Amino acid sequence: MAMIFAKPSMRTRVSFETGFFLLGGHAIYLGPDDIQMGKREETRDVARVLSRYNDIIMARVFAHQDILDLAKFSTVPVVNGLTDYNHPCQIMADVLTIIEHIGQIEGTKVVYVGDGNNVVHSWLLMAAVIPFHFVCACPKGFEPDKKTVEKAQQAGISKIEITNDPKEAVKGADVVYSDVWASMGQKEEADSRRKIFQGFQVDENLMKIAGPKAYFMHCLPAERGVEVTDGVVEAPNSIVFPQAENRMHAQNAVMLHLLGV
Ligand code: CP
Ligand code: NVA
Repeated sequence: MAMIFAKPSMRTRVSFETGFFLLGGHAIYLGPDDIQMGKREETRDVARVLSRYNDIIMARVFAHQDILDLAKFSTVPVVNGLTDYNHPCQIMADVLTIIEHIGQIEGTKVVYVGDGNNVVHSWLLMAAVIPFHFVCACPKGFEPDKKTVEKAQQAGISKIEITNDPKEAVKGADVVYSDVWASMGQKEEADSRRKIFQGFQVDENLMKIAGPKAYFMHCLPAERGVEVTDGVVEAPNSIVFPQAENRMHAQNAVMLHLLGV
């Protein structure tokens, strides 16, 4: 497997590399300075050359179009390891984690609090396939992509709500979910976002409003004291580490499926 990383990573890199090794494969890490996709060489050429050495390609890129181009020109399966638009492997691992802790995803209330980002888009796309209740509570102007919200709503599978009121949103939640306020590629906005996102920190008070059955989840890495308090990450109902582990199990299932074994 060739693994293309235009952005940093711990979980995605190590879970794919270790996971593929456990399946009997060998993974090659290609960091931001190695192939410089789109700069040193066109994406369509990268796709066709890597397809001749590898049975599968995994890529973490900035522009979503890059993963679409890789998939279009590659002759082997391409797995999305995160783009500016979405993060599907994360949400598959998250659903597995919810099934393990709650028993099922169907009917659960998952409340995401924070930026309407790539992780939210993958939650929405999951909600178009499996029935659950997804709520995204974000500051005004930081809502998820409108077309993706419409697509998820029009699928008619799940109950989907987008709101600017985190306290109201978390009531009765089975899962309260958080992610960084400034994603990779937005770090220069981190200071201004910290001001705008006041009131969207997942703290002990918000978890109390959510209620005693609510688990806390975060795709990690977390900025403790910013989008979530240290106490919430460390609380007994925080399942962020089984969630991180499940990246590997979910992705291994995806790779076995794609390789037809
Ligand atoms: N959650 C996640 O994708 O982590 P990394 O950025 O460390 O891969
Ligand atoms: N939204 C975050 C997720 C990191 C796993 C980012 O894109 O940086």
